Amino acid sequence: MAKRLPYEPPRIEQLQAATVGKHRLFDLQPGEGFEEPHDPQTLMQQFGSPLFVLSEGALRARLRGFRDTFSAPGIQTVVAYSYKTNYLPALCSILHEEGAWAEVVSGMEFDLARALGRPGAEIIFNGPYKRLEELERAISAGALVNLDGFDEIERIAQAARNIGQTARVGIRVNFKYGAKPWTRFGFSYDEQEARKALERIADLPELRLEALHNHSGTFQLDHKIYARAIEVLLDLQKQARELGLSPYIIDLGGGYPSSNRLKPEFDLPGGSTRGGNLLAPFGEAVLRPLQAALDLFERPPILVLEPGRSVVDACMRLLCSVVSEKRIAGRGRALVVDAGVNILPTAYWYDHPLDTPLGAGRTENVDVFGPLCMQIDVVRENVMLPDLHTGDPLVIDNVGAYTLTQSMQFIQPRPAVVLLGPDGPEVIRRAERWQDIFAMDSVPQRLRQPGGTFGAGPELA
Ligand SMILES: Cc1ncc(COP(=O)(O)O)c(C=O)c1O
Repeated sequence: MAKRLPYEPPRIEQLQAATVGKHRLFDLQPGEGFEEPHDPQTLMQQFGSPLFVLSEGALRARLRGFRDTFSAPGIQTVVAYSYKTNYLPALCSILHEEGAWAEVVSGMEFDLARALGRPGAEIIFNGPYKRLEELERAISAGALVNLDGFDEIERIAQAARNIGQTARVGIRVNFKYGAKPWTRFGFSYDEQEARKALERIADLPELRLEALHNHSGTFQLDHKIYARAIEVLLDLQKQARELGLSPYIIDLGGGYPSSNRLKPEFDLPGGSTRGGNLLAPFGEAVLRPLQAALDLFERPPILVLEPGRSVVDACMRLLCSVVSEKRIAGRGRALVVDAGVNILPTAYWYDHPLDTPLGAGRTENVDVFGPLCMQIDVVRENVMLPDLHTGDPLVIDNVGAYTLTQSMQFIQPRPAVVLLGPDGPEVIRRAERWQDIFAMDSVPQRLRQPGGTFGAGPELA
């Protein structure tokens, strides 16, 4: 009898096909694509590979579309862009030109917003840790500080006394919702902490309560959480008025999804559905209850939203090149590209769309790896791409959020960023050199090796 081969279980994995066509990169919805004509290969020849590109037209369109979705009569809508998502100075400047305020979560981001010309009144300072001197600077600039806990109430009161100015404050509120509620930030509504925070603020003449704030997660696919958030904040608005306080800013934070796709393990069971205006149900969930509660406010309320991903994700692409082709035992064909998870940490949870400007041709299922000497450097697994070879260009889409700010100085220097705008391509961040990575280091004289140049030459000065 013939010898039986050992049983090998079948490999069942979800395949996702990229859209491939000669003149069309990515099947995006109107307003989501890049308006500026550009050729990835020419750009990489000019500015190097890999290369981030930012579309000014797409960025402006996303910001306007977002604000329109959350606008209604009787309410002043303000977008306070979440700096940490992507604080490229040129990107923030475009959003500020469109009227966006700055939402910052550190002294460093606050200083950047000021250096970019934002008046203090258009800066919202959030986050769980703000140093005393940062609070003093925020107060003297007239920024709104959303307080995260009872310690911070006392600290900001101290900061206000130190500089002899009243502090404009809000309270960040959390509540239980869903399986993994974000209850580590702010004051608990369910446990009456938010009420106690209001009472304490009412006792401190150096604080003026102006805002009620909630931010309950990121890439929220369930718009009903915003309906609950507005319900909670409006109840606290009532309680604040009873205590003689008059907040007029309802700040619903960020967390709105972008046009990216989460990996199946993070997505809704069966995958989330997309189409139409992704954000429309979020706008409705918020605007109706707020419009029905205008009499709770002494003056027309300001609705603040702090989007990050939903505004910037679709505005950037990462252009890169295939640097080698492989056949991997047990898996099949693989491509190595010159862009990895050091500059694309989002590849851990997103299935970024991939495409190539080359013609369609035969498509095949490949794994795409980055250039790092690390097993985890995976750009996409099991993706349908045309028959690509070493030297060919690949475009990774929807890379605007958390790629630049969370990128690592690790193994490979980070690439340049080019802005595509009315004046053609402009470099808004030059590529990193090895010297940039070691610019903060020094080797004591006694450890310097003969023939070594580190620390001796002008290149590290
Ligand atoms: C307080 C606050 N606001 C806004 C944002 C932006 O969130 P997203 O990029 O999901 O819109 C964040 C991010 O977690 C945040 O912590």
